Amino acid sequence: MSLAIISPGRNPKVWIDALTFHEPEIDIQVYPDIDRPEDVKMALLWQHPPGYLSTLPNLKLISSLGAGVDHILSDSSIPEALPIVRIVDEKLTWSMTNYVVMGVLNFHRQITRYQADQQRKVWDMSKPEIPVKVGVMGVGALGGDVLDKLSYMGFPVFGFGFSEKRDFRYPYFPKDELKDFLAEINVLVCLLPLTPDTENILNLELFKKCKPGTFLINVARGKHLVEEDLIPALDQGYLSGALLDVYRTEPLPASHPFWDEKRVQLTPHIASVTNPQAASPQIIENFRRLKANLPLLNVVNRPKGY
Ligand code: GLV
Repeated sequence: MSLAIISPGRNPKVWIDALTFHEPEIDIQVYPDIDRPEDVKMALLWQHPPGYLSTLPNLKLISSLGAGVDHILSDSSIPEALPIVRIVDEKLTWSMTNYVVMGVLNFHRQITRYQADQQRKVWDMSKPEIPVKVGVMGVGALGGDVLDKLSYMGFPVFGFGFSEKRDFRYPYFPKDELKDFLAEINVLVCLLPLTPDTENILNLELFKKCKPGTFLINVARGKHLVEEDLIPALDQGYLSGALLDVYRTEPLPASHPFWDEKRVQLTPHIASVTNPQAASPQIIENFRRLKANLPLLNVVNRPKGY
C-alpha cells in the first residue's frame, strides 16, 4: 500500500522527509516515477496532470497538498465516489491570518503612503489613520480565524458566504445580501473557495456596490477576480487600492499591467504556504484511517466544492 506524491514542478523532498519523519515505514512513490501504480492507495496532489489518476487502478483517497481543492475538482476525469481531503492546519491558518492582518494594518496606518513620503522627504501628519471596517468573504477555517483576530484587535468585522448561517459570531450576510455586506465595509477580503458560484465574483459590478475607496485583499484564487476590471475600479474610485497574492496566471506574466500599477501591491502566492512538517501528521493519520476503514479527517464536500 503506497502513497503517491503527484506535484509536478515542485521538489518533493521536503514532503518525503516530513512524511517519513512522522511514519518511517511509509512506502512513497513520486510522480513521474510511479513504477508500481497498482500499489497506490492514496495520492497527494498539487497541480497534477489532468487525467493522470486513471493510471492508478486501486486509488482510494486523494489529498490536496494545500487548503484549496479547485485544482483537483477541475479534473472531471476523477470519479465522483473517490473521497477528497484537504489540509486544515493551524500553521496554515496562522500564516494566512497574519498576512491579512498585515494588509489591513497597512491600509489602516498607511505604511505605503509613509514610505512614498519618506522618498520625497515629505512630513505630512494629516489623516494618520483610516477608519476601517473589514468584510471577509468566506468564513470557513481561514476566514473565521481572520475575523476572530481582527475583531480581537478592535476592528468591526463582517462575514459573507454562500450558505445560510444562523447565530454566526459576527454579523453575517448570505449571498442574497451582498449589497448590504458591501455597504458596511471599506476593506474587502476574499477567502472564498473557488467554485462555479464564486469564480469571477470580484468584478466591476461588485466594486460599484462598494463604499468609495474600499481596499481589496485577494488571498483566495486568481479566478475570483476579473483582472481587467481592477484598474477601471481604481480609476473610478470604487477601490483605492488592492493587495493581491493570487492571479489568473501564475507566475504573473512580465507583461501584466498589475506589475506597474502603484495602487496594487503584489506578492507571489505566498500568503500561506503549506508547511510539510505541520501538515504531515494529518496526511499520515488519513492514510492510517484509510487502511483501517475509519472516518477520514477534513473531507471535502464535493457538491459544495470545498
Ligand atoms: C494555497 O493556495 C492552498 O490552497 O493551500
